Amino acid sequence: MSVYRSNLKNMQPYVPGRPIDEVKRQYGLSRVVKLASNENPLGCSPKVPEAVARTFAEARLYPDGYCTELRQVVSGKYNIAPEQLVFGAGTDDVIAMLGKIFINPGDEAVTAQTTFSQYAASVESMGGVMVYTPMKDYGFDLRAIVKSITEKTKLIFVANPNNPTGTYHTAEEQSWLMENVPGDVTVIFDEAYREYVTASDYPDTWATLKKYKNAVLLKTFSKIYGIASLRVGFGAMSAETAAQIEKIRCPFNVTVQGQAAALAALNDTAFMEKSKGENRRVMEFTGRALTEMGLYYIPSQANFLMADVKRDSRAAFEALMKKGYIIRPGAAFGMDTFLRITVGTQEEMEGFMDALKEVLAV
Ligand SMILES: Cc1ncc(COP(=O)(O)O)c(C=O)c1O
Repeated sequence: MSVYRSNLKNMQPYVPGRPIDEVKRQYGLSRVVKLASNENPLGCSPKVPEAVARTFAEARLYPDGYCTELRQVVSGKYNIAPEQLVFGAGTDDVIAMLGKIFINPGDEAVTAQTTFSQYAASVESMGGVMVYTPMKDYGFDLRAIVKSITEKTKLIFVANPNNPTGTYHTAEEQSWLMENVPGDVTVIFDEAYREYVTASDYPDTWATLKKYKNAVLLKTFSKIYGIASLRVGFGAMSAETAAQIEKIRCPFNVTVQGQAAALAALNDTAFMEKSKGENRRVMEFTGRALTEMGLYYIPSQANFLMADVKRDSRAAFEALMKKGYIIRPGAAFGMDTFLRITVGTQEEMEGFMDALKEVLAV
């Protein structure tokens, strides 16, 4: 018999994108471009390093675990009560905390078959069962999600836009979902890529939160804000749910550096606008280049594209890595012939498309 909790038996560790230095060493490359983890290729606001540098004078002190100043600023920006916010070491931390407060062994949560893996980790680590619904046009099928609800269902996880497919659901679809989910099932909308969205019918989830106590909204500073290494994300929810999380939150879960960086990043709207514009422009370039090669890609509202290269994605991944480009093989998500490609800079994508042509010509 194992000394460890039984539910760990079927869990697998998260597989992150390959680190640049490791790939450089392995293949003797001087330049490696990482297009694997949906980070911002433009970096972060120039105000961030200045703000972070100032914190080191007091590095000996624990952070303010309640993130008081950041909480105040986020509360004002999104017009939400400060006590409705929970900050974490990335959204990952908030996702894990949601599992801890909602899931008893045997409870169920529902999500789509092809989505962000940490939802399942949050549920399964607590002995819960993740129920998966099939994809519809590569996106979430919200009707199938509602049909999968049983008396054991506690949580629904919806990524909007979805990772890895980049698909989204509309405001109308979100209203329908909330109308058809029982009030004792909590619906978590993960909007990690929201700032990249250009679709005009995308939902206003802040309004959804005001209307439904059982809605949760997740946001991150790791994507358009460009501070993934500093690990800051947050959730907005009912004050009652946030108060439950406070009981289990690690007291100093967000670093002083992360908080200072998030504050500086939030204030630099010009950097955000630039990042969004560049992403859209370079994504359109990449889409056109893929189409010219006769390759299908899933239309994306995020900062990555899922392209069908019509061959084993792991082999294509290895071959691209040897040429200095790290992407994510679709096989990691059960989409064997697809590659998930983060949109880099124009120059990076031009190089990537050349490398892809060479790899696929073999
Ligand atoms: C949909 C989605 N949610 C959450 C995260 C986690 O982000 P964070 O860096 O805030 O933990 C990611 C990261 O890739 C993501 O794709």
